[in-house]
Amino acid sequence: MNHAASGKLRSVVLGLGSYLPKRIVSNADLEKSLETTDEWIVQRTGIRQRHVAAEDEPTSRLGLYAAQAALADARLKASDLDLVIVATSTPDFTFPAVATQIQAGLGMTNGAAFDVQAVCSGFVFALATADKFLTSGSHRRALVIGAETFSRLLDWTDRTTCVLFGDGAAALILEAQPAEEGTARDRGVLTSHLRSDGRHREKLYVDGGPSTTRTTGHLRMAGREVFRHAVGMVTDVVTQAFEATGTSAADLDWFVPHQANRRIIDASAEKLGIAPGKVVVTVDLHGNTSAASIPLALAVARGDGRIKHGDLVMIEAMGGGFTWASALIRW
Ligand code: UT7
Repeated sequence: MNHAASGKLRSVVLGLGSYLPKRIVSNADLEKSLETTDEWIVQRTGIRQRHVAAEDEPTSRLGLYAAQAALADARLKASDLDLVIVATSTPDFTFPAVATQIQAGLGMTNGAAFDVQAVCSGFVFALATADKFLTSGSHRRALVIGAETFSRLLDWTDRTTCVLFGDGAAALILEAQPAEEGTARDRGVLTSHLRSDGRHREKLYVDGGPSTTRTTGHLRMAGREVFRHAVGMVTDVVTQAFEATGTSAADLDWFVPHQANRRIIDASAEKLGIAPGKVVVTVDLHGNTSAASIPLALAVARGDGRIKHGDLVMIEAMGGGFTWASALIRW
């Protein structure tokens, strides 16, 4: 069947860009103000350092720099875009959306821009949303950004949470193109699987907000409880992505999981039968940057030559809500 003629569309990656704040906080730096050790943090999480945004670097600024880098990578202008979706749980303000601020920063006045809030799964939710818009034919080119300043939400006296997170942003540009074959050999987003279960709120949440405390609040997490659910949830949605596309772990070129904890990443890859050499790990360098972690990891692996045109890339995440999600992309 000729899918180009049938009108079936795929969301194909045109460009990728990222931005990390200059300031790096090492585990040794944290030892100075907290009862913690580099050894504990590395053993339990794999994290060695994280980037922390400067006072004059709100989430929209990080996202704007990443968006500009993605546009340059794709050799496009902001006016070539008609959709901007930002995944974030750390907006500059309660409103307007970070996406509209980035839209303005880019000098873009056409199209639509809005935020998606699914915490650490946010980038996969935003990518899936953009894919639905593009493959419906309603929009042509989307900028999908994961941008976070979790450092602003942390209780820096709570060693059980503050050592885990970092700041950063990365952006992907997708374009609606006619499907090549309508099979898993096509370039583009091949499938996405989104899940949520709000009964788990108490395990990972922020204890403030405009309609309750009228404050921003701090991140609170029952880490062991989150850990207990994470591997099962992500392996479920990854398995669904394999089933939906008739692919398997052996077909993957790269597995790019959300970067929360090295132990979760390794256990998930092992359960799925994904070879360790196919797993992209950046949690050591970035910590957990929530919605930014997957596109930042994609940027590292594309930048160092690992991810290449035509590669099959599985992304997945799990986080507050709970939310969890996967997407399979032919690069
Ligand atoms: O991205 C969103 C999803 N979030 C996650 O995926 C996070 C999931 N959870 C985790 O990554 C892990 O549960 C943590 C890294 C948060 C914790 O690791 P753990 O192996 O589950 O440790 P634990 O919470 O069971 O704590 C073990 C011990 C405790 O002491 P006691 O009660 O055994 O005496 C903690 O108080 O480690 C202690 N501890 C620390 N010690 C030194 C907790 N944080 C620290 C610390 N430094 N920073």
